[in-house]
Amino acid sequence: MGNLRSRITSWFTRRYFARVQKKGLDLSKIALLPDDVLMPLRRDGLDPVPELGRKRAEEPVSKLPVPFGLNVWLVTGYDEAKAVLGDAKTFSNDFTNLVGKTSARAEDNPGGLGFSDPPVHTRLRKLLTPEFTMRRLARLKPEIETIVNERLDVIAEADGPVDLVEEFALPIPSLVICELLGVPYSDRAEFQHLAVQRFDLFGGAAASLGAISESLEYLLTVVRKERENPGDGLLGMIIKEHGDEIEDRELAGLADGVLTGGFETTASMLSLGALVLLQDREMFKRIHDDDEPVHGFVEELLRYLAVVQVAFPRFAREDVEVGGVTIKQGDMAIVSLSGANRDEKLGQGLEIFDGTRPPMSHLAFGYGVHRCVGAELARMELRAAYPALVRRFPSMRLAVPVEDLEFRKTSAVYSVEKLPILVD
Ligand code: HEM
Repeated sequence: MGNLRSRITSWFTRRYFARVQKKGLDLSKIALLPDDVLMPLRRDGLDPVPELGRKRAEEPVSKLPVPFGLNVWLVTGYDEAKAVLGDAKTFSNDFTNLVGKTSARAEDNPGGLGFSDPPVHTRLRKLLTPEFTMRRLARLKPEIETIVNERLDVIAEADGPVDLVEEFALPIPSLVICELLGVPYSDRAEFQHLAVQRFDLFGGAAASLGAISESLEYLLTVVRKERENPGDGLLGMIIKEHGDEIEDRELAGLADGVLTGGFETTASMLSLGALVLLQDREMFKRIHDDDEPVHGFVEELLRYLAVVQVAFPRFAREDVEVGGVTIKQGDMAIVSLSGANRDEKLGQGLEIFDGTRPPMSHLAFGYGVHRCVGAELARMELRAAYPALVRRFPSMRLAVPVEDLEFRKTSAVYSVEKLPILVD
């Protein structure tokens, strides 16, 4: 089993990197969009660029200079972000808002939670939430530990530098989601391929939408197989308990949302969190020596890194005032989670990572009816992975100078491309 897994994961990641290298299309280099539009996605190492903090201080809701006549507001303040995300009556997530305003076509609608509004959203979310209770998730705990340990075994065998992104951060969440959904082993390579395409903003909106429909087609085949013979994973359970309330396409949309939501986000947290540990030796030692600090460490990491840099776009159904600004009916609001998590209103010194900080409110998992359904699963993965990593490799260190690391440039999910380490 271990061998099979390691073959699958190395195949997954080879394809991933082949894609990243082949695509080479960085929106920021095309210079079609004004720099200010991409600013909320840009970082300086782990930190958002200083402009984001300046914007928040001066104008927590500000107009983005988007061409082609679409009014887009950037929301960077914590209270203002909660006002938008917490008001699903006024702000719509519905996919059809994008049609006619972007390259999206009505038939591209991926369904699922992220692009739907109540009452459709409420009905779908009710199907999913029982699969994410602590009781149901508990069944994944030993699986997560096994997956983590198998990855550590692979790293331990390596001769010379190991890329932690390839060997640790990507395979862990991907295999955990396969377990969660009940995707058969034979389908996992295809699964991973689709996962990495989904948050690919480098290829532009059209490329991402193409990936959405490709991934839906694939997931439909998985759903149809489950319909014939439902297993114990999330898909099989929903089919067994609510099979007559949901159509195949809708269920595939739900699975797609779980895949989109749970893979690259957690992978980025694993990579960037490991980088934080490599640079903060005191924290490294605390996590190594003691179980207790890991909860606080993970919460502070979630806040500080805010790897999901912006929430799904929201569209105002009517004129509404947020942070002293009128957002007009039909306007788009982009909520900067990385901006909101560092708002001075929450406390001082939030530009800095402090793993000993008492846990505080943050928006890394969003807020309101669309708040991350997988938050507890993500926490389980992170709380299992970091201590296991530092305990197995106490002398772990970066194999290259930190300045040589290459970070993603304009992706909605921030991350580092590679993280070469030495473990001996
Ligand atoms: C550390 C890892 C993760 C982060 C930072 C994260 C972040 C987020 C955020 C910010 C949202 C809300 C987006 C919005 O309101 O526009 C969200 C929604 C969502 N997440 Fe996560 N997520 C993570 C892990 C996961 C996992 C492990 C899963 C499932 C396996 C998952 C599934 C989802 C789904 C299905 C939604 C849509 C919820 C809805 O619209 O009702 N996420 N996530």
